[in-house]
Amino acid sequence: MTDFAVLKNMQPQPELVRENIKKDPGFGLYFTDHMSHVRYTLDDGWHAHQVQPYAPLQLDPAAAVFHYAQEIFEGLKAYRHADGSIWTFRPDRNAIRINKSAERLALPQLPEEDFIESLKALVALDQQWVPTPESAADESSLYLRPFMIATERFLGVRSSHEVDYYVISCPAGPYFSGGIKPVSIWLSQKLNRAGAGGTGFAKCGGNYAASLVPTNEAVAQGCQQVLFTDAAENKYIDELGGMNLMLVTKDGRLLTPELGDSILDGVTRRSLLDLAPQLGLEPEERRITVEEWREGAANGDIVEAFACGTAAVVTPIGRVVSNDFTIDHGEEPGAKTMEFRRTLLDIQYGRIEDKNNWMVRL
Ligand code: COI
Repeated sequence: MTDFAVLKNMQPQPELVRENIKKDPGFGLYFTDHMSHVRYTLDDGWHAHQVQPYAPLQLDPAAAVFHYAQEIFEGLKAYRHADGSIWTFRPDRNAIRINKSAERLALPQLPEEDFIESLKALVALDQQWVPTPESAADESSLYLRPFMIATERFLGVRSSHEVDYYVISCPAGPYFSGGIKPVSIWLSQKLNRAGAGGTGFAKCGGNYAASLVPTNEAVAQGCQQVLFTDAAENKYIDELGGMNLMLVTKDGRLLTPELGDSILDGVTRRSLLDLAPQLGLEPEERRITVEEWREGAANGDIVEAFACGTAAVVTPIGRVVSNDFTIDHGEEPGAKTMEFRRTLLDIQYGRIEDKNNWMVRL
């Protein structure tokens, strides 16, 4: 493992500013005083590991990332426990995933130790930015955003010989504002996010860029998220614009689309599937049609639906809206949805025993 050198920010944001931000951080709006950085070149591999002051990047306008979108990212959180200690959740899964994404986007593999150390080194320096939750309902944390970009100055279409990896962080409250109430989802029937053999399973900016027009459509329809189906038949449920999707059946199953070319291997998704038996549900990963969901919700076989992800945690879905029909799960969050949410948050904030050893101290 390579130690991260520390270049301290000599002009950190004033304490009063920081404390005010932490009281109501929103999501993705305010950033801490430092960022981690590791540089890669074809000749020297990964080198120059350091934590440095958070600041705008100076990049050549011909840098590959601006033209061919050779970019990947991750998302995870740092949680403050009641004794003041700071922890993160299953960072090994993010380390594995960033390398799967890197492989697909022709970016270099980042050693798992460097990934973990880049988080630890940053949080060590910016620990005062990690919010202290005021109650069990308070899901504030420090959101960590690692990302890797192709920075070689070259307009030929080939994988970049120069790459930079950074971690930035921001205090974060709930991703969806307005408290824990069910969100509405717009079914994108014409536009897809990813197709067979594409990059859908990778966490790359391009997938999210492809989700923006449908997301705008969703917002115009009064919805907060968009639901994508498979690109071949527009029949099977894939995932939402920025999170995975789960359904709860009356006979005690937790359904979610199986992983494939176009579905992100979400850490929250995987963890909820692991927790399901403890909460009395049998996990089932398979292809699910929109029709099955529509019929199941109408005849009472599918009783709850929720979105899940690092940013979204577990967010109940109240309605799915499309040009042709509506799926209705009601105005109140489902009981199992809330049980998953509470159990996950209780593990992450150290309020119940972490039987699976998922938490890692930062
Ligand atoms: C996360 O949940 O960490 C994500 O990356 C979703 C994000 C695009 C808001």
